[in-house]
Amino acid sequence: MDGNGRWATARDLPRIAGHRAGAVAVSRTVEAARELGVGALTLYAFSSDNWKRPPEEVSGLMQLFGAYLQAEKTRCIKHGIRLEVIGRRDRLDRPLVEAIDEVERATGSGSALHLRIAVDYSARDCILRAAGALEGPLSTERFTRLLGEAMHASAGAAPDVDLLIRTGGEKRLSDFLLWESAYAELVFSERMWPDFERVDLEAALGEFARRERRFGGLPSQKANSVAPIQAV
Ligand code: IPE
Ligand code: MG
Repeated sequence: MDGNGRWATARDLPRIAGHRAGAVAVSRTVEAARELGVGALTLYAFSSDNWKRPPEEVSGLMQLFGAYLQAEKTRCIKHGIRLEVIGRRDRLDRPLVEAIDEVERATGSGSALHLRIAVDYSARDCILRAAGALEGPLSTERFTRLLGEAMHASAGAAPDVDLLIRTGGEKRLSDFLLWESAYAELVFSERMWPDFERVDLEAALGEFARRERRFGGLPSQKANSVAPIQAV
C-alpha cells in the first residue's frame, strides 16, 4: 500500500489525511477480495523501516491501525475473515498488542478470507530470526515453518505469494515477503493507494490469470487460479 502521502500532498492535505483515506481503501479492498474469491491477502501497512518517519506520523499510523482493528473486528467475524498480524510486536504499545491478540482470537475460525496485516514487518529480519532458530537438518519446509513462527503467523507457516501488487508507481519490493515471493507474479499500479478500487484489484487478478507461470519448468495449459495470496 503505497502513495498515501503523495495523495494527500496533491490535495494540500496533511499526510495523515492520506493515511486515513488509505484505511478506507483497506476496508474496500478487503471486501472486494473476499467477494472475488481471493483466499489470502497480505497488506503491507508499516515496515520496520517506517519507524524512521517523524514521530507524529508514526503515532498517527499506529492510532489508525488500532482504530481499524476495533472497527473491523465485528465485520471480520460476520464475514468469516481471519485477521492475523505479522511482524514484530515487541516495539508496539501494550494496548495495541492486546488489541491484536483479541482480534486474532475472535476471528481465528474464519475461513472465507485469510487477511494478514504486516506491521513492524521486515522480511530480512524474519529470515534472520528463522535462521537463528534453526537446529538439525535444513529443508525448505522446516525453514518455511520457522519463518512463519518468526513473523508470528498463527498458522505457523509462510505461504508462497502468488501475486504481489505494488501501488503508488514504485517498482521495488521494499523488504516485503522476500522468501515467499520467489515465484510471485509482480503487478505495479500507478494508482495511489487511497484511490485503489475494486476495478484495480480485478485488473490485477485478470493480469495474473493471463500470466504463464512455469516455475522454471516448461509451459503448461493450466490457467492460474484466482485464489492467490496477494500483497498490495
Ligand atoms: C503509505 O504510503 C504507506 C505507509 C507506510 C503507511 P506512504 O506514506 O509511503 O506514501 P508516499 O509514498 O509518501 O506517497
Ligand atoms: Mg511510500
